Amino acid sequence: MNSSNKELYPSNRGNKQNIRKSNKRKLSSTNWIKRQINDPYVIEAKKLGYNSRAAFKLLQIDNKFGFLKPSKKVIDLGCAPGGWLQVASQKVRSNEKHRNVVGVDLLPVENIPGTKTFVGDINDPKIDKILIDSLGDYPDIILSDMAANVIGHKQTDHLRTTQLIEIALDFTLKNLKKNGIFLVKTFKGGTETELLNIMKNNFKYVKNIKPLASRPESVESYTICLELKA
Ligand SMILES: C[S@@+](CC[C@H](N)C(=O)[O-])C[C@H]1O[C@@H](n2cnc3c(N)ncnc32)[C@H](O)[C@@H]1O
Repeated sequence: MNSSNKELYPSNRGNKQNIRKSNKRKLSSTNWIKRQINDPYVIEAKKLGYNSRAAFKLLQIDNKFGFLKPSKKVIDLGCAPGGWLQVASQKVRSNEKHRNVVGVDLLPVENIPGTKTFVGDINDPKIDKILIDSLGDYPDIILSDMAANVIGHKQTDHLRTTQLIEIALDFTLKNLKKNGIFLVKTFKGGTETELLNIMKNNFKYVKNIKPLASRPESVESYTICLELKA
């Protein structure tokens, strides 16, 4: 493995850290903190200045498909806290003069050089125009790492996530340039058949991918759709 691969696929080399027990903290929070401080991707993200460990998911997917090329225009749906924005802007060489990356999220994102972000809801019909106007063109690449807040009720959580995939796909089919690329967070079991069929009808290639940085126990997966047909 060369050094860039070491950064892409960090392994947990140190001793596992434990945290002090506290009566005030719930067991689930304690487990979350323990997992975070021992997660090699969290450690590496901090070291490299990425806003989230999610940055590695995009780096690993792009390492396989190589679609984030210089000067490509990118829209990132559900972009907070900004790991994907950072990776995308570095890869497409976005800067203040040629700003090629814009994003939207319900939550604010701290200023990331070469990107412009909006606080908004993808369900808002006005958001399409705001993003396209800000990008100055239709995008070559649309990314969606959107995730609904899970409430623990399996069917409801599944429905909410499916709805976000549906909205992201709808946005994509309205706005993506011909031959463009759409990457979307889906489920391990694959996308709903109906949505998958729409993807397959509109793109030349559709593939499911579970990057190593995506936790094995998580139901999350990704679907990449390559080359939007006319
Ligand atoms: C897993 S995080 C994205 C992480 C991001 N890719 C990164 O690298 O930092 C999912 C995001 O989707 C956003 N989200 C969920 N529903 C949304 C909606 N309806 N409109 C916009 N953003 C939404 C959430 O606020 C959350 O910040």
